[in-house]
Amino acid sequence: IKADGLAGGKGVTIEYSYDTAQETLQNLFLKNTLGKSGQQIVIEEFLEGEEVSLIGVTDGKSIFPLCLTQDHKQLNDNDNGPNTGGMGAYCPVTHVFDRWHVNLHTLSQQFLEPVIQYIQSQKISYQGFLYAGLMLTKHGPKLLEYNVRLGDPEAQSLMMLLKSDLVDICKAVLEQKLTAEHIQFHAGASACVVIASDGYPQSPKTGFAIKGLSSIEMNDTFQIFHAGTLLKDNTYYNNGGRVLSVTSKSESLDKALSQIYNNITKITFEGNHYRKDIGFRRNS
Ligand code: GLY
Repeated sequence: IKADGLAGGKGVTIEYSYDTAQETLQNLFLKNTLGKSGQQIVIEEFLEGEEVSLIGVTDGKSIFPLCLTQDHKQLNDNDNGPNTGGMGAYCPVTHVFDRWHVNLHTLSQQFLEPVIQYIQSQKISYQGFLYAGLMLTKHGPKLLEYNVRLGDPEAQSLMMLLKSDLVDICKAVLEQKLTAEHIQFHAGASACVVIASDGYPQSPKTGFAIKGLSSIEMNDTFQIFHAGTLLKDNTYYNNGGRVLSVTSKSESLDKALSQIYNNITKITFEGNHYRKDIGFRRNS
């Protein structure tokens, strides 16, 4: 069940029984839990498979895919708990090519290129990112949604691995001169783990001092991106649901994840929560 309005990634529930589906509808329509965003809904077929994020960049004439990424939407390990905006991501996602008999080129042909052709035929000018949320199923890849933006936390992982200068890509997009050569990635892999507040996604508890940030050294291969933080009197406080994105790049995904998990325990605030299994699907 999907709320038809904007809900910050919290508008989707997966229903395994009639009773819980009924409860969701009551929350949306009678209790107004998502306000106006939840007053109109979409009910979709439940798709079983593996989710990936296919993000392309277009200058309005052509579109080129970035590395395939994989988000982790559920709050807790092993994909348990409520849906969130995303608790962690990594790229490139390569294990799915053999497992689901797909490749980046055909996914782009199937899900990105037709959109650009269609918007051209409608004389709409669109230059920027196009995000296709896909479910890879045994009946082939299926489209879940399109967004006209990068994903969060997919972007953190992608930008860390991007070798090309993003400004050069944006310039080529604006000048409508984008080619595949503009988009180069480093070898290896990158990953991002999100630290969230207690109570996220329903009602995050905020206002707690974040400790340990200054003890961590950041460089080209390790960055902590701020999202829901507030700086007051030289101290950072958690100030939203998703608070920090701990992001690393290395020669392998295992090494990138080790670097993240070795450092993430140094960052603490009351009720902080993060998933400990980002990337687990590649081994499952
Ligand atoms: N991480 C999912 C999204 O940005 O929509």
